[in-house]
Amino acid sequence: MIRPAERRDLERVLEIERGSFDDPWTGQAFEAFLGQPAVRFAVADEGAVDGYIIYSLVCGEAEIYNIAVAPESRRRGLGRELLGAALENAGTAFLDVRAGNLPAIALYRGFGFKEIGLRKKYYGNGDDAVLMKWSR
Ligand SMILES: CC(C)(COP(=O)(O)OP(=O)(O)OC[C@H]1O[C@@H](n2cnc3c(N)ncnc32)[C@H](O)[C@@H]1OP(=O)(O)O)[C@@H](O)C(=O)NCCC(=O)NCCS
Repeated sequence: MIRPAERRDLERVLEIERGSFDDPWTGQAFEAFLGQPAVRFAVADEGAVDGYIIYSLVCGEAEIYNIAVAPESRRRGLGRELLGAALENAGTAFLDVRAGNLPAIALYRGFGFKEIGLRKKYYGNGDDAVLMKWSR
């Protein structure tokens, strides 16, 4: 089940974030997204929270800011469900992904996202970002 995130989910969301990224967002960053009207923060809840997505949706254009699934729950379709929920009411969508993040790039390509640009050394550690676009 995909549902809006609540304050009580933040501890688990942070745990997943820290297990998923070398440069995790802080608790304050997640908190700031709760209750922002233009930003959607949703969790995958199968009795426990196993993943989340944060995106904006304005005039049919989505921008994906963050998506992660708990390491022990990956390859069970949760990432696909979360992204599918974000795209449901969108006509176009954009996101940035680290050039070497092959699982995420495979997920996005599976939805039909296309690579439309490269941002050299975009991330703090010098990794390039691939800019991807999806259209309905
Ligand atoms: C990217 C991520 C969200 C995918 O979540 P997930 O729940 O494992 O993805 P799904 O099970 O829905 O996989 C959907 C499809 O994506 C692709 N995919 C997902 N993980 C993959 C992997 N490790 N290798 C290759 N393809 C992969 C496959 O095509 C998969 O379909 P299949 O299982 O039928 O072959 C997850 O790996 C993750 O949290 N990574 C760390 C955080 C991150 O990098 N987020 C993205 C930042 S831009």
